[in-house]
Amino acid sequence: MLEVSELSAGYGRLQVLFDINFGVRAGEMLAIIGPNGAGKSTLLKSLIGVVTPTKGRIIFEGSRITHEPPNMRVARGLTLSPEGRRIFSSLSVHENLLSGAVRTSSSVIETQLEKIYSLFPVLAEREKQEAGSLSGGEQQMLAIGRALISAPKLLLIDEPSMGLAPLVVAELYDALLKLTSEGIGVVVVDERVTEVTRISDRTCIVEKGRIVYEGEHSEALEQLRDTAFLGTL
Ligand SMILES: Nc1ncnc2c1ncn2[C@@H]1O[C@H](COP(=O)(O)OP(=O)(O)OP(=O)(O)O)[C@@H](O)[C@H]1O
Ligand SMILES: [Mg+2]
Repeated sequence: MLEVSELSAGYGRLQVLFDINFGVRAGEMLAIIGPNGAGKSTLLKSLIGVVTPTKGRIIFEGSRITHEPPNMRVARGLTLSPEGRRIFSSLSVHENLLSGAVRTSSSVIETQLEKIYSLFPVLAEREKQEAGSLSGGEQQMLAIGRALISAPKLLLIDEPSMGLAPLVVAELYDALLKLTSEGIGVVVVDERVTEVTRISDRTCIVEKGRIVYEGEHSEALEQLRDTAFLGTL
């Protein structure tokens, strides 16, 4: 459903990504891992369109979207849950969820609200509560929920486990697996390298703006077991 080829991007004169190639299929989970500053967030930002590529192509469901604005991409079924969650603290849970809707019909919003609340029942319980008063884990669930309101086919998630306890992370990962079982593609950037590789179908390792390794689940785990290699992450 997503094909990225020869993608380069950066900020002004600073080039961050160099000739990135990868693809994602429907219902597949792809993990992207790598050291701080490697360009993982820049890659997700290029996919959603807040960073403009200087070279290469992004094809989503057969259409070239390389230079399309983010709202058009969201309307096509691509969404991003950004690094740092970026929820609106003074708005309610419900209002935050609605803020993710871009050209989404009210019937789709209704269906998606039900799905989000069944995926994360705690959000339903806290529907009217100010988002700033939620726990870190609940705020992350909200950030994912907001990305789901537009009924995406492919969900991009940046650092969902940041600052969260292992049990909460396991709960979030379970939710991601549920989404893939419904045919939604997931691209997840995470610093919990072994855990995220374990739940993913494939893993890409990004270093200094290049994909230096791409492999299937078990092969990637073996690669990660090499402690010298892990030391570089
Ligand atoms: N808005 C920006 N303007 C200029 N440079 C930026 C901007 N955002 C990121 N960079 C630079 O781009 C490079 C890659 O950053 P990016 O945030 O993509 O890395 P990352 O792999 O997501 O790192 P982390 O693991 O810390 O989240 C870094 O050198 C960073 O300083
Ligand atoms: Mg990042």
